[in-house]
Amino acid sequence: MADGEKDSFYLATPIYYVNDAPHIGHAYTTTAGDVATRWRRQRGEQVWFLTGVDEHGTKVQRAADAGGVSPQQWVDRLVGDAWLPVLGTIDAANDDFIRTTEPRHVERVQRFWEVVRANGYVYDSVYEGPYCVGCEEFKFPGDLVDGTGEYAGQQVCPVHGRPVDQLQEQNWFFRLSAFQDRLIAHYEADPDAIQPRSAYNEVMSFIRHGLVDISMSRSSVSWGIPLPWDPEQVVYVWFDALLNYATAVGYGAEPGTPDAQRFAEVWPPDVNLVGKDILRFHAVYWPAMLMAAGELPPRKVFAHGWLLVGGEKMSKSKLTGIAPEQIIDHFGSDAFRYYFLRSIQFGQDGSFSWEDMSARYTAELANGLGNLASRATAMVARYCDGVLPAAHDFGPAEGAIADGLAAAAAAADLAIGDLDFSAGITSVKDFVEQVNGYVTEQEPWVLAKDPASAERLNVVLYTVCDALRGIAVLYNPVMPKAMASLWDQLGAHATLGPLADQRIADVGRWAQLPAGTAVTKGAALFPRLDEVE
Ligand code: MSP
Repeated sequence: MADGEKDSFYLATPIYYVNDAPHIGHAYTTTAGDVATRWRRQRGEQVWFLTGVDEHGTKVQRAADAGGVSPQQWVDRLVGDAWLPVLGTIDAANDDFIRTTEPRHVERVQRFWEVVRANGYVYDSVYEGPYCVGCEEFKFPGDLVDGTGEYAGQQVCPVHGRPVDQLQEQNWFFRLSAFQDRLIAHYEADPDAIQPRSAYNEVMSFIRHGLVDISMSRSSVSWGIPLPWDPEQVVYVWFDALLNYATAVGYGAEPGTPDAQRFAEVWPPDVNLVGKDILRFHAVYWPAMLMAAGELPPRKVFAHGWLLVGGEKMSKSKLTGIAPEQIIDHFGSDAFRYYFLRSIQFGQDGSFSWEDMSARYTAELANGLGNLASRATAMVARYCDGVLPAAHDFGPAEGAIADGLAAAAAAADLAIGDLDFSAGITSVKDFVEQVNGYVTEQEPWVLAKDPASAERLNVVLYTVCDALRGIAVLYNPVMPKAMASLWDQLGAHATLGPLADQRIADVGRWAQLPAGTAVTKGAALFPRLDEVE
């Protein structure tokens, strides 16, 4: 295989701090990664989707201290009670889940830093300066802002709004400055390696401003991975956490083992999906670390926006976090996935409100798609004894539906392939509206009254069902539960096989549902909200 060519698509989310339970900001990143990777699977690509948790560092240590337990007990409990279950709650189909306390991670992190040290990029020196425990980040004085309220008169972290620690530590340093020119050349050669464009510009200006070497270890922290050559110090939590993307897929595994094989298959990551707050770590430090170890950097770092509450980043520390289950218990996981990816342009900030979510749920899911599916299946039941009729003589109105499906599939494929979820979902939603409009115009309930229109009725009912067949495939990556139910109601499983086996590239091929299929009207795909409680 030529350098850089590989068969599988590898996407990873950040690994989340287990200082607290997940909120919808965390679930947002995982959902986006899940939809992007389910889409690739639906294309027929080989995919590896990784997520996990970041368990070391001062932030977690302090949470455990406050909870009166050891850090290990703290993370074991929170991961088991909250972080693993939330994957089921949002219906994520991740291939692996990495915890940074796992031996596979610890050993490989140590191996990685031995390599970087042997390559001459690690030296010891003193770090003196500010450190934000909320960000787990060494700050530059210019990063800080004036505090307000109880912190008036002090310099605070702009993200957390709290004063920072002042550190003076004997540390091991990573020679980041050595990679300034290589990083610039790398990004100039491939400007799409950081998206959106605003993120690219921010990173380029940071790098061009000049990179300084950075501590890769902490001497005053004990909850972490000991340096192999100086076990009194632990690896700085970010330089432990970033490596999860490599350790989880087998970096440093014994040659010939399945893990080593996986690394050869998936490396480098196609997409590191991150929130914009952690862009610098992923687009500057992370590729530099990989270059220092002689490994390929990620192909793309995509920085999405924040979910805001009252104009500020939603966060547990500011007590503005909403737990995913609060929304999902009410609307279901499909609507959660749909709403956040459809209503916020990926890459921009967005706000959540119950009113907006209820309005979209009702208009687009319950009245839009849900109503279309129930009308179609009910009419096949009533007028054709639940058997999909054969259709002869498709006319111009049906041609427009067939063309609309092919166009929606092509547009959604392009958009979601580029992580523009909102545009991708909107093209399918517009097609749903087109089909609803077709039903209204064709008035099958009128055709049903006149035996002379029987052939025409069959054409209309068939057209709506085959359109729904396409919609089920295109929406499966976004709303897997409801689409599995729609697939069953259309009787498609028995004739076309599993929904997962349908390919995006084939969706636009018209008239795939065989006549004679048993169509059943099942439970509402999106129950009306007054029926939910
Ligand atoms: N542990 C680090 C990441 C290490 S990756 C090698 C970390 N963890 S975090 O739990 O604080 O945040 C992880 C990610 O959660 C953020 O990058 C972002 O993707 C997501 N979000 C957390 N709060 C968010 C919002 N309010 N809105 C959107 N996403 C947010 O940083």
